[in-house]
Amino acid sequence: MAPIDRGPFCGYNISYSIQAVYRLYPPGCGGALEDIVSLTPIGEPRRKITTATLCEKKLHHVPITCLTAYDYATARLVDEAGIDIVLVGDSLAMTMLGYDNTLSVTVDEMLHHVRAVRRGTKDALLIADMPYGSYHATAEEAIHNAARFVKEAGAEAVKMEGGEKRVDVIRRVIDAEIPVAGHIGLTPQSVNILGGYKVQGKTLNAIEQLMRDAVALDRAGVACIYLEGIPREVAAMITAEVETPTIGIGAGPECDGQVLVFHDLVNLTFGHAAKFVRRYGDAAALITQAVLTYKADVIAHQFPSDSESYHLPKDTQVALETVLHRKHALQR
Ligand code: KIV
Repeated sequence: MAPIDRGPFCGYNISYSIQAVYRLYPPGCGGALEDIVSLTPIGEPRRKITTATLCEKKLHHVPITCLTAYDYATARLVDEAGIDIVLVGDSLAMTMLGYDNTLSVTVDEMLHHVRAVRRGTKDALLIADMPYGSYHATAEEAIHNAARFVKEAGAEAVKMEGGEKRVDVIRRVIDAEIPVAGHIGLTPQSVNILGGYKVQGKTLNAIEQLMRDAVALDRAGVACIYLEGIPREVAAMITAEVETPTIGIGAGPECDGQVLVFHDLVNLTFGHAAKFVRRYGDAAALITQAVLTYKADVIAHQFPSDSESYHLPKDTQVALETVLHRKHALQR
């Protein structure tokens, strides 16, 4: 097969043998020949991230980056910084809405935020969290709610917590043409069953269950698997075992990608930070300083200044002065 010319494929050489195709796209990672033309060599200009991009990245050992975002402004910043996945996590229950945990947030509340994030996201893959209770009763209800995230808010995939016990529902949602991200380990929607936010997978039985969960999700064809709050060694085993890209949070560096909650990244969360959180900036300090300076300026009549004020046009000013002058003259 002769290499194809530059042009619509940006010079990407698609002269692969069928075996090479299967090496690049093993079953579960979208093995169709036509997918090859969507490959962009690493270092090319940024382009739309899809679920296929995540598989490409895993295969080429290129780390996947993911951050949560919950509104237009942060979505724009995250997307324009070139982060691969913008996740509208149900962590917004705490970070944005001030709830104690994720359990009370509703589909409608989530949709409101996903729509805002959609408007701020261009290139990144947009994943929306399915909140607690929206996929736990029946597959029909799960499909109905997942489709709302796609149709009403523009999500490109939905995330559901749980492994083996949730896999039938997940398969049904994928069958309805909606990509699903799995989420296993410390699954915050199970906080009452788990008895708190505890690291999972610390015993041999627990490791075996996690492996079964990961393999079940892999076979179901999920787009990626979030691994939360599990020992690094277990995350490494899962990552090596499954073809699906893994994205870790508190799961060590061997995952195929990493995710952090945006508010943790920039110190906008209050209270104790988990061990895995690295603060990359201090937005709390920045905002507090700005607010205190504004308050002091207003109290000291230093804000707004003349240059921050609107002025009358010259002729209106002259006319106004004449009117006021006459009025005062009449009052005398
Ligand atoms: O809700 C969320 O932000 C999440 C991530 C931490 C994976 O589920």
